[in-house]
Amino acid sequence: PNNVGICNIEVYIPKYFVSQEKLEIFDGVSTGKYTIGLGQKNMGFFGDLEDINSLCLTVVHNLLENHKIDPKTIGRLEVGTETIIDKSKSVKTVLMQLFERYGNTDIEGVDTKNACYGGTSALFNAINWIESSYWDGRLAIVVTADIAVYAAGNARCTGGGGAIALVVGPNAPLVFDRGLRATHMAHVYDFYKPNLSSEYPVINGKLSVSSYLSALDNCYSQYRKKFMKKFSSEFFSLADIDFMVFHTPYCKLVQKSVARCMLQDFLNVNGRANGKYPLFEKYSHLSLNESLEDFDLLKEIERVSVAYSLDIFHKKTQLSTKLASLVGNMYTSSLYGSLVSLLMNVGENDLIGKRVLLFSYGSGLASSMFSLTVCPSENLRSSLVTMLDSLQSINVLLDQRLEIEPEKFVNILELREKSSNVPNFSPTCSPIDLVPGTYYLTKINSEFKRYYERK
Ligand code: ACO
Repeated sequence: PNNVGICNIEVYIPKYFVSQEKLEIFDGVSTGKYTIGLGQKNMGFFGDLEDINSLCLTVVHNLLENHKIDPKTIGRLEVGTETIIDKSKSVKTVLMQLFERYGNTDIEGVDTKNACYGGTSALFNAINWIESSYWDGRLAIVVTADIAVYAAGNARCTGGGGAIALVVGPNAPLVFDRGLRATHMAHVYDFYKPNLSSEYPVINGKLSVSSYLSALDNCYSQYRKKFMKKFSSEFFSLADIDFMVFHTPYCKLVQKSVARCMLQDFLNVNGRANGKYPLFEKYSHLSLNESLEDFDLLKEIERVSVAYSLDIFHKKTQLSTKLASLVGNMYTSSLYGSLVSLLMNVGENDLIGKRVLLFSYGSGLASSMFSLTVCPSENLRSSLVTMLDSLQSINVLLDQRLEIEPEKFVNILELREKSSNVPNFSPTCSPIDLVPGTYYLTKINSEFKRYYERK
């Protein structure tokens, strides 16, 4: 099949949000720490009547309905999530309710887990299936969804949540570049969830940030080599890429990521631009790893490279961070939320024919860099226009959100703590605030079976 890629996208975000500015006051941190230091504006969160099953039911049902997709045309359904509520039963099997009723049970795929990376692994599975001998001509759905919450403390402001479902198939307007995938995986305890009765991770924040940057260095370096091989070119730099989108725990890290790629361009001999970046010269003897080892040196290099890369960041990445600044970290959905944000905010004519680089990171750690081309052929243009039109509905979802004060936000998180995998549970939050089409939990019975309704 030709032009394998993303055909349709459906997004679901939390109905509630808390202002980061108010959270700074509530948490007693210095003014600007969350808003300027981390680059966040608001943070979305869910009440105790939404769980990973309800998020995925909502986004997949809305996808089928809003894009008029016949459930019988789906041959693969994958879920990537780190919001685990059952050690055995997959969310995918819960979603089968939406297909069984149409007589379609012949659907491959189950859940995939590794922190924020599970969605990317699920996506790769879907692409691989379509490019394999097992493909039967049907479409794949990839669901990425998570509830990102942290215990009280300095990581809490980097929470968020949401769900994004992608239809993957041939003749797509967003086409994955074949043979261009770079991966870096390693054993690191930067962020993990060993306590199965809590939604909160155990986290080493600083280590998670340096692991992210080191994974980025590795993936970018590998991607560069593969790009030069594929296109038989002697050079590669950010100039060969039109847009870059990243897994976005908070927006400031993304700006630093663009800067990091630019530093690597400089350190690659071919990228040195005749004294154009004099402040970089003193780092030219350093390896990328060495620059991460000394915290003060890293901060100094960050300041210089962020300043040098400002223009590139504004042109190629900034628009992709808009959604994350309003919703927060969506974990597995975060990278795809960044892609959506780019598509929503860049016009059709500025997208056509352009290459988008994607960087996926999941703690623990697993990471990949890959790319897609928007409408490589003219006949895909009308499906792009349809996709861009449909994404405007996200602005409606954003407008319909309700702001909750920090005190109440903390109360709601405490309610979630109580609902984490307990039998005989009924949610306290009311479905009254939810938008029509949203699934919500009505009860967990004595055998831990969960029951849902759709608003
Ligand atoms: N005005 C402006 N900027 C400020 C202010 C202020 N008043 N106060 C602090 N800052 C800046 C700091 O200088 C720092 O910027 P810099 O890194 O560019 O120097 C930034 O705000 C954050 O301040 P820190 O003191 O570094 O923040 P802290 O250590 O308390 O927490 C962290 C930040 C580690 C990101 C924490 O929120 C966390 O652990 N989050 C979860 C982990 C995470 O998201 N990791 C990312 C990859 S893994 C994943 O996706 C889960």
